[in-house]
Amino acid sequence: MKMKHTITFALAGFGLVLALGIVSAGSALALGFDKPLDELTARDIRDAVEADLGARRAGMTAEEVEERVAEAIDEVVADLKEAEHAPPRDWSFNGPFGAFDRAALQRGYQVYREVCASCHSMKYVAFRNLSDKGGPEFSLEAVEALAAEFTVVDGPDDYGDMFDRAGKPFDQFPMAYENDNQARAANGGALPPDLSLVAKAREAGPDYIYALLTGYSDEIPPLFKAQDGLNYNPYFPGRQLAMTRQLADGLVEYTDGTEATEEQMAHDVGQFLYWAAEPKMEARKALAKPVLIYLIILVVLLYASYKRIWREVDH
Ligand code: HEC
Repeated sequence: MKMKHTITFALAGFGLVLALGIVSAGSALALGFDKPLDELTARDIRDAVEADLGARRAGMTAEEVEERVAEAIDEVVADLKEAEHAPPRDWSFNGPFGAFDRAALQRGYQVYREVCASCHSMKYVAFRNLSDKGGPEFSLEAVEALAAEFTVVDGPDDYGDMFDRAGKPFDQFPMAYENDNQARAANGGALPPDLSLVAKAREAGPDYIYALLTGYSDEIPPLFKAQDGLNYNPYFPGRQLAMTRQLADGLVEYTDGTEATEEQMAHDVGQFLYWAAEPKMEARKALAKPVLIYLIILVVLLYASYKRIWREVDH
C-alpha cells in the first residue's frame, strides 16, 4: 500500500515538473540570454526573440514579431519586480540562547529618534519600555529626559480642550502625523507604516530591514522603469517604494563614539526594531537553559528509577 503511494506521488511530481517545463519553454525566460536579467536591454531581448523564431519568422508579419518582443519584455520586467531575499545576518540575538546587544539597542533608538521618527510612529511602545530589562535598558532619568523631547496631545482639560504637553515615561510614542491622510499627503501618497511590529510582520524581519535600508541602488536594471516618485530597491516587494534612501555615513553622531556608517546605523536600528516587536525575547530565551537542565536531570532520574524497579525481573 505504502509503495503504491510512493509511486503515485513520484509520477505526479514528475508530471508536474514536465508540465512546468512545457509552460516555461514558451516564456521569455527560456529564451537563453548570455547576461543576467538585470543587465538586459530591449535590444538583447529583440535579438533573442528573433534568434528563437529563426526560420519561422519569415512566415510572420512584422506586427506578430513586435508582439512577441513586447511580450518577452513584459515577462522580463515582471521577473525583475520579484523582490530579492534579504541575506541572513549574524545578529547577537540569533539562536536559542541569543541576547540583544545593549549598546546597539541604545544606538538604534538614537537612529529611530533622529531619522525615522519624523515619518514612522511606534505606537505600541511606551517610553518607559526603554528602561525595561531585556531592552535598551536606559536609566529612568534618561527615559524621563528622552520622553520630554516629544510633544504629546493630552486632554480634554476643564474647558474640554485638548492640549500639548511634554512626553512622560508612561506615554506611548506619539504619532508622527496627525492622521493617516496627512501622512500620505506628506509622502507622495504612501503611508509610512507604524514600526512597532514591522520586524515581526515581515519575513526575515531584521534582515529585511537591514537589507532595505542599505539596499538602495543607482544601478537600476535598464528595463526596469520605476514609477514616478518611487525609488528602486531590490528588497521591497515590487522593487520600488516611496521611501527614499534614509541613511548615509555620518548622518547621526553616536553618543557612545561608534562610527556611524550606513551599515552600522542599519544594523543598530534593525536590532532596535526587533526588540520593539519582541520585547520579551530575552526573558523567553532565558528560560531555555533551566528547562533543558531540568529535562536532563529528569531523564537521569527516570532512567535510574527504571533500572531500580526492574532490577530483579528478568527482561
Ligand atoms: C520622509 C519620511 C520617512 C522617513 C524619515 C523614514 N521612512 Fe520608512 N517609509 C516611509 C514611507 C512613505 C514608506 C512606505 C513606502 C511604500 O509603501 O512605498 C516607508 C516604508 C518603510 C519600511 C517598509 C515597510 C514595509 O511595508 O515592508 C520600513 C521597514 C521603513 N520604512 C523603515 C524606516 C526606518 C528604519 C527609518 C529610519 C532609519 C525610516 N523608515 C525613515 C517614509 C519614511
